[in-house]
Amino acid sequence: YMHTEIPEGLKRLPGPKPLPIIGNVLEVHNNPHLSLTAMSERYGSVFQIQIGMRPVVVLSGSETVRQALIKQGEDFAGRPDLYSFKFINDGKSLAFSTDKAGVWRARRKLAMSALRSFATLEGSTPEYSCALEEHVCKEGEYLVKQLTSVMDVSGSFDPFRHIVVSVANVICGMCFGRRYSHDDQELLGLVNLSDEFGQVVGSGNPADFIPILRYLPNRTMKRFMDINDRFNTFVQKIVSEHYESYDKDNIRDITDSLIDHCEDRKLDENANIQVSDEKIVGIVNDLFGAGFDTISTALSWAVVYLVAYPEIQERLHQELKEKVGMIRTPRLSDKTNLPLLEAFILEIFRHSSFLPFTIPHCTVKDTSLNGYFIPKDTCVFINQWQVNHDPELWKEPSSFNPDRFLSADGTELNKLEGEKVLVFGMGKRRCIGEAIGRNEVYLFLAILLQRLCFKEKPGHPLDMTPEYGLTMKHKRCQLKASLRPWGQEE
Ligand code: HEM
Repeated sequence: YMHTEIPEGLKRLPGPKPLPIIGNVLEVHNNPHLSLTAMSERYGSVFQIQIGMRPVVVLSGSETVRQALIKQGEDFAGRPDLYSFKFINDGKSLAFSTDKAGVWRARRKLAMSALRSFATLEGSTPEYSCALEEHVCKEGEYLVKQLTSVMDVSGSFDPFRHIVVSVANVICGMCFGRRYSHDDQELLGLVNLSDEFGQVVGSGNPADFIPILRYLPNRTMKRFMDINDRFNTFVQKIVSEHYESYDKDNIRDITDSLIDHCEDRKLDENANIQVSDEKIVGIVNDLFGAGFDTISTALSWAVVYLVAYPEIQERLHQELKEKVGMIRTPRLSDKTNLPLLEAFILEIFRHSSFLPFTIPHCTVKDTSLNGYFIPKDTCVFINQWQVNHDPELWKEPSSFNPDRFLSADGTELNKLEGEKVLVFGMGKRRCIGEAIGRNEVYLFLAILLQRLCFKEKPGHPLDMTPEYGLTMKHKRCQLKASLRPWGQEE
């Protein structure tokens, strides 16, 4: 690329000078969200680095990201053919594969419609507003019981370890129509691997860009392949069971609905886009994976922030006590009455930016951005962390302050301010689980805050340094919790 012709009137991308063979790997180092944010201050909101021999364009700044992903959305909607992506869902992932636009769009539509039917559709369950609410209310109650019983036995607990099972159960309920016990070894073995998964898939992993690294003994990469194998085997087994018991007059869950779609399509020979049965039923693998890792990471961070900011935890509990009371379980419909809780969640998303980059994008044709030429098939990183910490956009970006999202008197959520937070991506590749993600984080947190008070374990100070990955996690820790007086209206 260094030697390619730049079309008339366009500029060559700025960026640091690459070293031979390794490119800018040393400058990107092990916290790419920080190093690439620092580079954006020097080179601007569109610049180029080289990872190994491969050029990567890095986008920062709210306006530039919006220009690329929304106004020029078509041009930037592809995914790069990265080495690690080939192992995810056997190379047939909806989110990570290089499917051409037509196939990807057809699968994305199917995924969204399946989620609608089995998560957010109103009136799909008798007592609750939707299936998501039913699952989260039930799992939230189990989680409170689980944490109190671990407290009774051990005196402290690892929040991620328990939250991840509850969150996995919600998505398992919708995808597979089943839940697992908090001691189920098969599920535990699987969901506790998500840290290592995210570390390999995080933007800027050198092994994705430098072929020789794949042939050197590499423990992390080996583990990554094992994790994907285990994950695929787990889902494959459940899918086979669904095929065996499938009944077109009784579609039980998302897996059934995808199988049903394959059966339907066989009658319709003129379908213009051909997507294999495997690629259709394989969508459930993406939904399950995306549905537990993101949300359990968000919730686990939220609990750690509650412990780090006890005065905010008290205010949140008071808000719940006043607006919901201490007799009934909170519902989705209470959300608009809980502005502080909404502001707290937005501030967790912004401050932790636990998804520091979107999944990498790729240009599908020659294009330009802010006057710079970007050729077809260029890998593009979107730095969400930078947007969420941009001093041009935020007052004191590094301080944790939910009140920044509230009106001056603290009674109303400032929606416009909230829309500046970038965690679900935007445009054509925007997260399809956003509504589920936001509602699920809200409802689990409301239940936890109403019933429990979280505290540090003496002698175990919190370490809030994130570990870099596709989703950044806090270090595993031990916390304490006590029950709030329950069932007493004051
Ligand atoms: C993609 C964030 C929950 C399904 C994404 C992307 C982000 C994201 C940043 C990449 C956007 C891009 O590449 O530009 C989040 C966050 C969540 C969450 C922060 C929770 C707090 C979920 C849930 C599901 C889901 C619950 C499904 C049940 C997906 C899928 C994609 C995606 C399928 C790929 C879309 C595509 O490539 O077209 N999400 N997500 N996500 N998300 Fe989520």
